[in-house]
Amino acid sequence: MDLVIRGATVYDGTGGAPSAADVGVTGERIEAVGDLSAERAGVEVDGAGLALAPGFIDVHSHDDFAVFLLPEMDFKVAQGVTTDVVGNCGLGAAPFESAQSYLSFFAADRHRDSLPGWDTYGEYLDAVDADPPSLNVAALVGHGTVRLDAMGNERRPPREAELARMLDTLAEGLDAGCVGYSTGLVYEPGRYSATDELMSLARDMARVGGLYASHMRNESDGLLEAVTETIRIGEEAGVPVQISHHKASSPSAWGLVKDSLALIDAAQARGVDVTADQYPYRAGSTSLFAVLQNIEEGTAGFGTVAWSNHLLASAPRHTDWEGQSLTDLAAGFGVEPLEAARRIVDAEGEGAVVVIESMCEDDVRTVMAHPSTMIGSDGIPTLGGKPHPRLYGTFARVLGHYARDVRTLSLQEAVHRMTGLPAGKFALAHRGNIRPGAFADLVLFDPGTIDDIATYESPRQHPTGIAMVWVNGTVVVRDGSHTGTRPGHALRRAG
Ligand code: ZN
Ligand code: CU
Repeated sequence: MDLVIRGATVYDGTGGAPSAADVGVTGERIEAVGDLSAERAGVEVDGAGLALAPGFIDVHSHDDFAVFLLPEMDFKVAQGVTTDVVGNCGLGAAPFESAQSYLSFFAADRHRDSLPGWDTYGEYLDAVDADPPSLNVAALVGHGTVRLDAMGNERRPPREAELARMLDTLAEGLDAGCVGYSTGLVYEPGRYSATDELMSLARDMARVGGLYASHMRNESDGLLEAVTETIRIGEEAGVPVQISHHKASSPSAWGLVKDSLALIDAAQARGVDVTADQYPYRAGSTSLFAVLQNIEEGTAGFGTVAWSNHLLASAPRHTDWEGQSLTDLAAGFGVEPLEAARRIVDAEGEGAVVVIESMCEDDVRTVMAHPSTMIGSDGIPTLGGKPHPRLYGTFARVLGHYARDVRTLSLQEAVHRMTGLPAGKFALAHRGNIRPGAFADLVLFDPGTIDDIATYESPRQHPTGIAMVWVNGTVVVRDGSHTGTRPGHALRRAG
């Protein structure tokens, strides 16, 4: 064996009770779990007093470009994340000509030339394998990107030939190993698509497998209608459903998550494979352009939240604005907050990203306590500014603050929701569990000290309590420091 981790308390990802065991690794895979005291290995790690878990799977990431621009992915692997699912909220990596319009959202438009060339989803996944980052990457086809490619930003249903082109691009991605397709129905151009368009794509996906992941049309007063639409697409098309960042995003909607969780329970009881994901914070983060558009066009996808609760997180051309609330900025400009928002969007375009304190703690805990909830950071890997701390802190915050301190869920359940549960749902073969034959994606951490320390004021801080992280058997983090290795793989959907 190349590596034995001795005497850790093993949380195997199934959600079952932990047990003390040695874990032996050969090459990229776990070879044995149990009493390995008779075995000798090239590398011996003392896990006494620590917890050993499968590497965490971030089911909701936006790291499509970051895996090339920031290939060490320190903000993720330092949390114990060993697999990213990219392509969420309708923002896919391909076709590249359409996808590159998102580069400004990540303050990365000047770095276009540092990206390897790709056109299709297959080429994207091949590019990940050719120049791998430090973690594994699974991809969703982004409906918004596909629609933009087929018909531009048109505010109408697709014509027959346009829908055919969308279906072709989706099929290309799924055949190449993408794990499903995602929508972002508050964003351009996804907001212009009706249910039947989304259903056509889902029906077509059903023959090859893959799930439907949705940032729904409305997460506020219309949350229940939006959840109903999302479940209906999966149920009628016969595909699994993933509700992205499950929440009630404005004060008028607080408490509705009890009813949306009941809709999930009822659908599961009918046999629909529907689950959700969540980031463990009361604030969200998104494009200010999208917030403004939803207000001005009356679509109310985000609901109504006071401007004082909107913090400008990223403004690459006016970094002095960053960290200020919209009301403070408005006072500085001498205008109303709505007008200030318009000015900022005019000046920054998609580069203006806001953090919005929009949820209540009760809802965050209610969603987290429910067995349908996986963990997804929704981190925005902007190259500047003050990103929402979820980019750096999500997984440690669930394990430390919510599981250990607040006891919203048990530690073994928390580990399950970030490992075995998502691996099954996203069809990531031989991932998400500690057992012989599985890939050696592993996190050794101290359950007594693990904590997120990233804050809104100072978000770029790695969590405490993560001792070591391995990806495909190679150590990526040791004593909180990145080793510089980049052993990630592109993960293609299993069968
Ligand atoms: Zn989203
Ligand atoms: Cu997202």
